[in-house]
Amino acid sequence: MIEARGVTKVYGAGTRAVAAVRDVSAAFEPGLLHCLWGPSGSGKTTLLHLLAGIDAPTSGGVFVDGEGIGTWDDARASAWRRRHVGFVFQFFNLLPALTARENAGLPLLLDGKDGREVRERAASALERVGLAGRADRRPAELSGGEMQRVAVARAIAADPAILLGDEPTGNLDTETGASVIGLLKGLAAEGRTVIVATHDTRIAEGAGRVLRLLDGAVASDEKRA
Ligand SMILES: Nc1ncnc2c1ncn2[C@@H]1O[C@H](COP(=O)(O)OP(=O)(O)OP(=O)(O)O)[C@@H](O)[C@H]1O
Ligand SMILES: [Mg+2]
Repeated sequence: MIEARGVTKVYGAGTRAVAAVRDVSAAFEPGLLHCLWGPSGSGKTTLLHLLAGIDAPTSGGVFVDGEGIGTWDDARASAWRRRHVGFVFQFFNLLPALTARENAGLPLLLDGKDGREVRERAASALERVGLAGRADRRPAELSGGEMQRVAVARAIAADPAILLGDEPTGNLDTETGASVIGLLKGLAAEGRTVIVATHDTRIAEGAGRVLRLLDGAVASDEKRA
């Protein structure tokens, strides 16, 4: 269980200070697809980064199974991220020199898994996103939607309990977007905690819970049947 308790993030100082996230408290549940919904600038990306421990809150904390991740040292935090958290970035963050398979397998490689296991798991993650035939291509040889799917494959390759996505369907056509949404729902149904920031109404409609953000604060938190 991952939980935000009174999380606030302020960027800048003095008159230029911006509270990107304001006093957000929410417990995110395994088995559920959560949607962070809100206009541009409402704090979705910032909140995802705080949940992943990529960024630290100004006040409040993020807790995993009751333990504050802010108390962990860098080594412990990055090991936790590599093993238990998959992150699909808004702008992919793929490494241009690596093939799709190498990009997808990178978190496993960094975690010390042997080459054969890395290749097999990366290949199966690529297959899951419909890119088995593109495994040997580099990002520059892929379409935007294909790069997005490689980013999804990388996020799921380590079989993480927590999957965070920042506009994971932002660059996909309707059909491919629908298949990624189906994949996210399936990953949640398998017992993962899936949290997705999006403007995509289809994700919001299919989500088990929608947290609406306005100016960094949770304006509504709605669970669906
Ligand atoms: N590094 C930063 N320094 C200063 N301000 C920032 C920084 N990152 C984000 N902000 C500000 O914090 C607020 C929230 O930004 P955030 O990126 O979380 O919004 P978002 O909901 O993800 O928007 P979008 O839908 O456009 O991706 C915005 O006002 C933004 O300008
Ligand atoms: Mg964003």
